[in-house]
Amino acid sequence: MAVKRTPFIAGNWKMNLDHLQSIAFVQKLAWALADAKHDFADAEVAVFPPFTDLRSVQTLVAADSLPIGYGAQDVSAHDSGAYTGEISGAFLKQLDCRYVIIGHSERRTLHAESDAEVNAKVKAAHRHGLVPVICVGETAEDLEAHGPSAVPVAQLRAALDGVDGSKGLVVAYEPVWAIGSGQAATPAQAEQVAAALRALLVELLGEEVAQSTRVLYGGSVKAANIASFLREPNVDGALVGGASLDIPEFASIVRFKKHVGA
Ligand code: PGA
Repeated sequence: MAVKRTPFIAGNWKMNLDHLQSIAFVQKLAWALADAKHDFADAEVAVFPPFTDLRSVQTLVAADSLPIGYGAQDVSAHDSGAYTGEISGAFLKQLDCRYVIIGHSERRTLHAESDAEVNAKVKAAHRHGLVPVICVGETAEDLEAHGPSAVPVAQLRAALDGVDGSKGLVVAYEPVWAIGSGQAATPAQAEQVAAALRALLVELLGEEVAQSTRVLYGGSVKAANIASFLREPNVDGALVGGASLDIPEFASIVRFKKHVGA
């Protein structure tokens, strides 16, 4: 049974734009998107600024009722206490964050974040009413050794251990070799892994949750290739890094229907 999933375009700013820059950026993005009301309404948009920007983004989005969601790039597995440098999901919820990215490959690689930590963070997000955007993806070596789906599927299985699917989630398939490289996966490659991830969602969380969960592709997405990914039946949007910092480019990604010709 085909279920209509609203496409989701998520902009991961990484460590770019301070809180003053974030205000100007979100304002300009909202203007750029307002030109495209019809197409815009067909996709959900969210930005993922650095923690220090979130209060400013919250104030702007609330004051102007902007149809732009936002979330954080990480969350602590703990709720409060002696965890220097960490940010509780409770604090993010108080800033009206809807989403939080968990297990991005830069955290797994640069901060040695394990599958067990990713799992604990997913549960922390749910405890605080946040929707985790769970990132999975294989390195070029994994691809060579195990083929395309094995590592992302194993990472998602671990991330979802004991997780209640009714609390909501988004999955982002981001091949590590495609991130920031300018070398995106092909739409067929993205679809193959997205389909395998959805099959795992069926197995772990049941058909209904699996069919309503958005599976995104990420890795060198730009306006020129977004439509080809969104044509694939199991790809429901994109997690965009570099191109999310370029307002016309990101707005054009959100208006993917123009490229599809729909
Ligand atoms: P990229 O990054 O779009 O710059 O490849 C994607 C990501 O890291 O989420």
